Amino acid sequence: MSNSLIDTAPGYDQPIAVLKHCHDKIRKQLQTLQNLLSHLPQHGADAAAQQAAQAVQKYFNKAAHLHHADEENDLFPLLTAAAQGEDAALLGKLGPQILAQHKQMDLDWDILNSQLDKIANGSSAALNATEVERFVQAYTAHMETEEAHIAPMAKRILSPAQMTILGEAMQQRRGLLPAAIAGGIALADLRMDYGRASLSEADTLADPIAQFAKWFNEAMKAQVNEPNAMSVATVGANGRPSSRIVLIKQYDERGFTWYTNYESQKGRQLAENPHAAILFFWPELERQVRIEGRVEKTSVEESDKYFYSRPVKSQLAAIASRQSRPIGSREAMEESYAVVEAASGDQPQRPEHWGGYRLVPERVEFWQGRASRFHDRIVYDLQDGSWNKERIQP
Ligand SMILES: Cc1cc2nc3c(=O)[nH]c(=O)nc-3n(C[C@H](O)[C@H](O)[C@H](O)COP(=O)(O)O)c2cc1C
Repeated sequence: MSNSLIDTAPGYDQPIAVLKHCHDKIRKQLQTLQNLLSHLPQHGADAAAQQAAQAVQKYFNKAAHLHHADEENDLFPLLTAAAQGEDAALLGKLGPQILAQHKQMDLDWDILNSQLDKIANGSSAALNATEVERFVQAYTAHMETEEAHIAPMAKRILSPAQMTILGEAMQQRRGLLPAAIAGGIALADLRMDYGRASLSEADTLADPIAQFAKWFNEAMKAQVNEPNAMSVATVGANGRPSSRIVLIKQYDERGFTWYTNYESQKGRQLAENPHAAILFFWPELERQVRIEGRVEKTSVEESDKYFYSRPVKSQLAAIASRQSRPIGSREAMEESYAVVEAASGDQPQRPEHWGGYRLVPERVEFWQGRASRFHDRIVYDLQDGSWNKERIQP
C-alpha cells in the first residue's frame, strides 16, 4: 500500500513514467469492464452500472487515443532515430506489432463502445463477455510487452534532450503546454543557441561517428525539418554524377545505412562505381555534414529485418515499383500494385532487388555556419585505420 494519500502522477519531465501511469489507469478501466460483466446480470443497467460504463467510455474514447498517439507520433520515431544494433533489430520487430495491436484494439473498442453506450443511458444491460475478455487480454499483453521491452529501452537510449522533446510533445497533445513554448519560442531559442555555436578541434569528438551522433541528436532536439533526410550522390561508369534524397535508417560504427531498389539508377551507378557522397543539411542550426566513402550492400538478414518492419502497403509498393524505370501512366502503376497485392496478400516477400546500402566513411566534414561567412570546418580523414582530424578554411 502506498504511503501517500494522494495518487501523485509523475511529471512530464519523466515521460516514460507518465506512459506507465497511463497503463495503470488502463488496467483500472479494464477491471471496471470486467466488474460490469458480473454486475449487469444481477442488477441490470442501474445507476452504478451507468456510471461505470461512462467512466470506461470516457477513458477509452479520449485518454487511450492520446496515449497511442504519444507512442506512434513521438516515442517510436525518437526510438527509431536513436536505436542501434540489437535495439534497432528489436524495435524493427516490435514496432510494427505494437502499431498493428493499436489498430486491432481500436476496432475491438468500437464494438464494446456501442454496447456501453446503451448501458450508460440505462437502455440495455447487454455486454458481450467474449468481446470484453478479448479486449482485456489484448490490452494486458500489449502493455506487458511495452513495459518489458520498450520502456526500458527508452530509458536506456533516449538522451535527456530527447526525453524533453517527448515530454513536451505529450503535454502539447493534451493542451498543457502553449504552442509558443513547445514548438515556438523555446525551440527558436534552442536553434539560435546551436546556430550560433562554434566548432573547434577541441570540442569535436575523436570519432566522427560519435560526433555525428551528437549533431544528429541536437538536430532532433531542435526539431529541424526531416533531420534524417540526406542527399546521396553517386557516379556511374560514364563519370556523370547524380544525386537524390533518401532517409538514413541506421548509423553506427560500420557506417550510414539507407534502403532502396538495387536496380534503380543509384543502384546501377553503385554497381559500376561503389564510391558515393552523402550530405546532411540542417539549416535551422546552420550545419551541414558531408560524408564520403565506399558503399556496400547490407546483409540479407538486415535487409529482411528492415523490409518486414515496414507497413505491408510499403512492402507491396517496393515490390510493385521498378524504381527509376519509365511507366505509361499512374493507372499502370496502380495496376501493377494491385497485381502484386493479389499475388502476395498480406505476406509479401522481400524481392532480392530491394535492400540496404551502407556507406563506410573515409572522410567526414562537419560545417558550422559562422558570422560574415567565416565558417568553421572540421574534417576527419581515415588514414591507416585511424581518424586524422584537421581544420580547413571556409
Ligand atoms: C524526403 C525524401 C525521402 C526519400 N527517401 C527515400 C528512401 O529512403 N529510399 C529511396 O529509394 N528513395 C527515397 N526517396 C526518393 C529518392 O529521392 C529517389 O527519387 C529514388 O530513390 C530514385 O532515385 P534514383 O532514380 O536516382 O535511383 C526519397 C525522397 C525524398 C524527397
